[in-house]
Amino acid sequence: MVTYRTVGRTGIQVSNLCFGTMSFGGIADKEASRALYLRSREKGINFFDTADIYNEGRAEEILGELIQGERNELVLTSKAGFPTGRDPNARGASRRHLLSSVEGSLRRLRTDRLEFYFIHRFDPLTPIEETLRTLDDLQRQGKILYPAVSNWAAWQIAKALGISAREGLARFELVQPMYNLVKRQAEVEILPLVQSEQLGAISYSPLGGGLLTGKYGVGKRPPSGRLVEQPNYTKRYADETNYIVADRFAAYAEERGYHPATLAVAWVLGHPGITAPIVGARNVEQLEPSLAALDVELTDEWRREITALSIDPPPATDRSEEV
Ligand SMILES: NC(=O)c1ccc[n+]([C@@H]2O[C@H](COP(=O)([O-])OP(=O)(O)OC[C@H]3O[C@@H](n4cnc5c(N)ncnc54)[C@H](OP(=O)(O)O)[C@@H]3O)[C@@H](O)[C@H]2O)c1
Repeated sequence: MVTYRTVGRTGIQVSNLCFGTMSFGGIADKEASRALYLRSREKGINFFDTADIYNEGRAEEILGELIQGERNELVLTSKAGFPTGRDPNARGASRRHLLSSVEGSLRRLRTDRLEFYFIHRFDPLTPIEETLRTLDDLQRQGKILYPAVSNWAAWQIAKALGISAREGLARFELVQPMYNLVKRQAEVEILPLVQSEQLGAISYSPLGGGLLTGKYGVGKRPPSGRLVEQPNYTKRYADETNYIVADRFAAYAEERGYHPATLAVAWVLGHPGITAPIVGARNVEQLEPSLAALDVELTDEWRREITALSIDPPPATDRSEEV
């Protein structure tokens, strides 16, 4: 069952699963997107993640159409930062780009505000002060309710939190890191930062883009799917160890009578620093096992066993011999 959680130090209540719309207008056509949206709503999900770049704005347009009539019951995010065109200013976290990108997102989503607005990745060309001041202005204008950040290193987020406190600017209230059984970097610095600073965290790729669904393994690839079709994902998960873990994990889940996707999402959901994993799918059939995670409470023993199937990331300092 869905439960509702407070996002960090805000007063916003979100479902403990967020639905990610990266497939809308791409691998999920309008009809499939509608079915995914309705199934998520039926399950009690009130939290939807999107971005300006998802399928060149089509994901936002489709979501914008679907939310009409119930906008006030929803918590929406969007993002800016990845290139939306060839113009060198149509990217990054500059004042110029953020002000125009947020207008585009609001227009496509047919809404007057976004609950959370993510800087999609670190922009080494823009001073953090410029980004934070712009987000603070957008918050004062009511166009965004809270600034948020994705794919930044913990030191970059910590630096930004310090600047916000010093300058009296709205702080990042929510972070969006990648996190799954084979991509556990977030455990080292991001999630401890989240817990220490009482931030919200919604993590993406709980299934490793499909790796942890049972269809990938050593020498085992499906005829189609993101990790075989999208070069950036093929590269991201290329290390053979990932496929060894995927095999072990699928066998573990199947022995216990669960779809691997269900336990993969439940494992992320059970981390005390995570507010909600963001689940994604191309159709409702794929979505069901992820939604089923809401009805699984992993025991500490299962959690330890699942974690032990993968490789612990090295600690933040190399010195790890003392316990
Ligand atoms: N901030 C960021 O940089 C960032 C990056 C990525 C995603 N996100 C957000 O997070 C959301 C979720 O991320 P994600 O799509 O990477 O999550 P994911 O759950 O790791 O991967 C979803 C993909 O796995 C495959 N899949 C899902 N369920 C399956 C099943 N039951 N059986 C077989 N295959 C299944 C599908 O791909 P195939 O059918 O192609 O195999 C599906 O598109 C996105 O929609 C987006 O909102 C954010």
